[in-house]
Amino acid sequence: MADDMKTANHPQADEGLIGFQDGAIEGRPAGVPSSYATGGSPRWTPEVIADIHAKSQLGRYQMRGFNAFNRHLPSFDELVIEPATMTRLPLEGYREQCETKVVLGDGLGKVEQPIELDIPIYVAAMSFGALSANAKAALARGARKAGTMTCTGEGGMLEEERAENRTLVYQLTPSRYMLDLDHIRQADGIEIAVGQGAKPGTGGLLLGMKVSERVARMRNLPMGVDQRATCRHPDFLGADDMAVKIEELREATNYRVPIFVKMGATRPYYDVAVAAKTGADVVVVDGLEGGTGASPAFLLDNTGVPTMAAIPAARRALDDTGMSGKVKLVIAGGIRSGIDVAKAMALGADAVMIGTGMLMALGCNSPRYLADYKALGTEPGACHHCHTGRCPVGITTQDPELVKRLHVDAAAERVYRYLTAMTMEATMLAKACGKSSLANLEPEDLRALTLEASAFTGVPLIGADRPFTW
Ligand SMILES: Cc1cc2nc3c(=O)[nH]c(=O)nc-3n(C[C@H](O)[C@H](O)[C@H](O)COP(=O)(O)O)c2cc1C
Ligand code: SF4
Repeated sequence: MADDMKTANHPQADEGLIGFQDGAIEGRPAGVPSSYATGGSPRWTPEVIADIHAKSQLGRYQMRGFNAFNRHLPSFDELVIEPATMTRLPLEGYREQCETKVVLGDGLGKVEQPIELDIPIYVAAMSFGALSANAKAALARGARKAGTMTCTGEGGMLEEERAENRTLVYQLTPSRYMLDLDHIRQADGIEIAVGQGAKPGTGGLLLGMKVSERVARMRNLPMGVDQRATCRHPDFLGADDMAVKIEELREATNYRVPIFVKMGATRPYYDVAVAAKTGADVVVVDGLEGGTGASPAFLLDNTGVPTMAAIPAARRALDDTGMSGKVKLVIAGGIRSGIDVAKAMALGADAVMIGTGMLMALGCNSPRYLADYKALGTEPGACHHCHTGRCPVGITTQDPELVKRLHVDAAAERVYRYLTAMTMEATMLAKACGKSSLANLEPEDLRALTLEASAFTGVPLIGADRPFTW
């Protein structure tokens, strides 16, 4: 007690009564969250300490799947939709229709069979290798039932995926794994991947425990050995020779199918402008939040441009080069719901592509096989262990016993229902804004709740009602 308090002329309570007794620890008052227990430094957090412990024992960086764990990223939750009231009139949410169709590849007039999707949401490129064959088949069947498509990802076209799909895009990556002219001709679209949001500027990665006999055969690799793909395509260095490559692919496919270029968001304004000028029909931009089967953890958290900021920049690039309407813009990275879909489309996307959310619809992180989650050191709801190849629910594994756990019929139905539910959410929001087509959503339908979201997107900050700019 302070000395001046002792001289005050009033009765003093017992010291034993003043201090809370229960839970008191020597030298520390009870009931006070202590930095000893919770960690006090925002710089040396428990995660930072654990990372240093890991690196100091392993002698290398940590690997993991999933996506960025950087908690400071503004998200789509910081944008709100502003429905119509008097200045604009809403459509009847339960009675009037809202168009959801999107066509990819019709803008340049070069393609005989542009891709027509019933909904502007499709399953992202995820390789066989990263995913099990059952997962690929279930995604394809679910997508077909919802009137949409999937993309092979790196490592070739799986028979099951081709058989289950109505529309399948074939991905060409710098590694050239499973580059097969027959597969190119069986595809409904060709995607040249020059990067992805989870690890822009680096190549694909598949750890040895997932390189099974079938994966190895398809990729022409030794079994059980880590596969680290190159990051630059051997066939082109810049825009001019990429344009030649696109023309070659058009010839190889008889000008039948659209050509996509997929990139991680790094300098989205300039990169999208260049990609559009190479003659691609569709540009796919995957933001920093984009998922992966395996990546050095530090790349996931520290490289790229967040999706929300990449969309307006990519749209501006197409506008400024006169390519909006001619080249379609697909956006990916962290899209979870129809709400995110509506916001992404209002910001400028023509369609969106989803990876991680689709895995969850398959059953990722579902509360079954608890002992196997525990063996990985995790639990349902917190698992991000795709890189280990020990996926408890049979999605990101090549172990035949684990793969069997993924029931293709049931998982396909969940994928279909997830796609349907997202479409309902997006159309209900669009109708509330008075839009009879999802494609008519526009930035004017959005307001930003935070300075960061406003600065990232150029959407007016609520209250100030103007964009936050410097
Ligand atoms: C398991 C898994 C495997 C992936 N494999 C590939 C791939 O082979 N090629 C590629 O371009 N992107 C790949 N991606 C990235 C996705 O195509 C997509 O860009 C990303 O998942 C979008 O972000 P989201 O997961 O937040 O929806 C993969 C993603 C996941 C989750
Ligand atoms: S449950 Fe499987 S797919 Fe989901 S995060 Fe864990 S390992 Fe990856």
